Amino acid sequence: MGATADLPASARIYVAGHRGMVGSAITRALQAAGHKNLLLRTRAELDLTDRNAVRTFFQAEKPEQVFLAAARVGGILANNTYRADFIHDNLAIQLNVMDEAHRAGVKRLLFLGSSCIYPKHAPQPMKEEHLLTGLLEPTNQPYAIAKIAGIEMCDAYHRQHGADFRAAMPTNLYGPGDNFDLNTSHVIPALIRKFHEAKVANAPSVAVWGTGTPRREFLHVDDMAAACVLLMGVSRAVWDEKVRHPFVNVGTGTDVTIRELAELIGQVVGYSGKLEFDTSKPDGTPRKLMDGSRMRALGWAPRIGLAEGLQASLEWFVRQGPVQRKA
Ligand SMILES: NC(=O)c1ccc[n+]([C@@H]2O[C@H](COP(=O)([O-])OP(=O)(O)OC[C@H]3O[C@@H](n4cnc5c(N)ncnc54)[C@H](OP(=O)(O)O)[C@@H]3O)[C@@H](O)[C@H]2O)c1
Repeated sequence: MGATADLPASARIYVAGHRGMVGSAITRALQAAGHKNLLLRTRAELDLTDRNAVRTFFQAEKPEQVFLAAARVGGILANNTYRADFIHDNLAIQLNVMDEAHRAGVKRLLFLGSSCIYPKHAPQPMKEEHLLTGLLEPTNQPYAIAKIAGIEMCDAYHRQHGADFRAAMPTNLYGPGDNFDLNTSHVIPALIRKFHEAKVANAPSVAVWGTGTPRREFLHVDDMAAACVLLMGVSRAVWDEKVRHPFVNVGTGTDVTIRELAELIGQVVGYSGKLEFDTSKPDGTPRKLMDGSRMRALGWAPRIGLAEGLQASLEWFVRQGPVQRKA
């Protein structure tokens, strides 16, 4: 996706969270499309939970467009253990960035949420209108409620102030830059690491959390980044005509069971031992598949298949090793 009238190559674009998996993929995609005027700050340079620091940054730098990909993110264990941190940090980041973006006159902002905003037993595939129609999955409820508040902020600032704030809800993402720390990671990096280490150690089996029966959808982060760049470049008139909603789902439209995923990762890694399902660990929501009709109407489709994407992730992990992250 190249520069467009709504996302010119000269635009001052702030990518919040540019060192994270999604933010780094967006940054790569923008750079590949010729964007040179990117504003990037590490957490050490700009803590987005610090309102004064965020105000000073926006007033001094006056970004025109903002990708909000900074968040406290983690798997089931981290979400369930650090419940206060997950709701606090995500609400604070969203409040500070969106309100200061509005005060500084930012032309357009894209907020990244997550498929966990949907009810635990939402009809499948999940459509945007299923938001707030049932109870959430309890293990990540604080995170999900923060993300729902973020969507509501985009909509409220648009309706009250005319601010062009939009939101995208990605399905489960994976790829280069993923978190391979077993205490805080999502299922794909956790399994890639476990299988790789089991292969190196010649271990007879690998433990997989849960029963293996939940169904999940996975999208490569470079496909997600292409979707984000497209969404930032779409005029408000096109958004209103094709999306007709404050946020849009971004997914592949296909899902696999955790068992099928584990078997595929075993093949990609070249591990020949056994899988053992640890049923003392939680499964989470039974099925999560997004309806992607609105993104398709905008002309986007994923390009990277699961086996190809897993191979690239494995290669990245083997090159980088397990970079330790804060929970
Ligand atoms: N990963 C997924 O499967 C997935 C799925 C759906 C939605 N999403 C959404 O996509 C977005 C990005 O996720 P990700 O997977 O890229 O997460 P990530 O790899 O953990 O990156 C998060 C980024 O946010 C930054 N950050 C966190 N707290 C901050 C703070 N207080 N001040 C400044 N920066 C802060 C981190 O900075 P440091 O690098 O300095 O720590 C990091 O760059 C999130 O909104 C998430 O909800 C992700």
